[in-house]
Amino acid sequence: MDALVERGAQVRVVDDLTSGRRSNIEQLLADGRVTFVEADLREPGVTRAAMKGIEIVFHLAADHGGRGYVDLHQAGPASNLFLDGLVFWEAVKAGVEKVVYASSGCVYPNSMQTDTKQVLYLREGDVKPPHDADNMYGWAKLMAELTLQAYHREHGLKAASCRYFTVYGPRGVENHAVIAMIARAFIGQNPFDVWGDGTQIRNWTYVDDIVSGTILAAEKIDDGTAVNLGTMERIRVIDAAKMVLEFSGQKADIRFRPDMPTGPVNRVADNALAKRLMGWEPKTPFRVGLRKTMDWYFATKHKEQVRGVLEQMLTAR
Ligand SMILES: NC(=O)c1ccc[n+]([C@@H]2O[C@H](COP(=O)([O-])OP(=O)(O)OC[C@H]3O[C@@H](n4cnc5c(N)ncnc54)[C@H](O)[C@@H]3O)[C@@H](O)[C@H]2O)c1
Repeated sequence: MDALVERGAQVRVVDDLTSGRRSNIEQLLADGRVTFVEADLREPGVTRAAMKGIEIVFHLAADHGGRGYVDLHQAGPASNLFLDGLVFWEAVKAGVEKVVYASSGCVYPNSMQTDTKQVLYLREGDVKPPHDADNMYGWAKLMAELTLQAYHREHGLKAASCRYFTVYGPRGVENHAVIAMIARAFIGQNPFDVWGDGTQIRNWTYVDDIVSGTILAAEKIDDGTAVNLGTMERIRVIDAAKMVLEFSGQKADIRFRPDMPTGPVNRVADNALAKRLMGWEPKTPFRVGLRKTMDWYFATKHKEQVRGVLEQMLTAR
């Protein structure tokens, strides 16, 4: 939002605040550059009204959470099928010029991501029949991408899908791994829980890089192509946990939790297509983004409050 307003855009936000926070845009609302409608896009008439007079739709609303949520909840993410379908159809009917969609690394086949010893970089073309997406959440993201491509071909809607890979940064919530680890260090958890055996590999991607990639997609892609927005850093969960402990100055025994969800054990993007089509490259190495995120977290949170909600947040939205 801040980045769009900086570019001079007039922005209408529709959010039901089921996981978003109004406080994140309070200043922009006060400045009059953003208008806000608090409503569920799935309710009759909301999406239709939201589309009136809009040139570009950035569709990020979703029933979504971190790994605990995606693995343990199927009904909530299934509602994204309906939500995305409605948003895209109303965009076509309203004559919106372009839809930019927040897709996910969860569209990639689970079967490719099972071997931590393999140096694997997921390429956009790996998403092909027979599909094997990650839980109902991933299937809904995949269906949305395919819908946008069909609408481009058959209705002329300009569209782009951005496959975000495990985003982290300020304003993140504890249901995502990096923020959960930071929260554990913040409250001094000892033993310090790490889900799985810690060898799972991820390419955590800093929120500012995600924002710049999403705006570039709006500028450069029209035909519904899906691009990976992710770094190519291969980071094991255990190494991320150790870095969090190091930066926080905490010493703690690590306790592995094989009983908790891990998701695919080897998920890292190839980002060559985003570079080629839009000149995008992530600018924030994990160590740098992690420090910034920890600085934000430690400066803004209260220990008692975090202690009270952390366990429940790990598997909720
Ligand atoms: N965070 C990640 O690591 C990640 C990775 C891949 C994809 N994504 C996708 O990026 C998008 C943004 O993710 P996020 O991490 O900022 O999540 P988020 O939960 O903070 O953002 C989703 C927003 O949509 C709102 N919302 C949900 N359902 C709604 C509805 N029916 N009507 C109106 N508003 C609704 C929520 O209140 C929230 O503000 C989502 O589509 C998510 O699936 C995120």
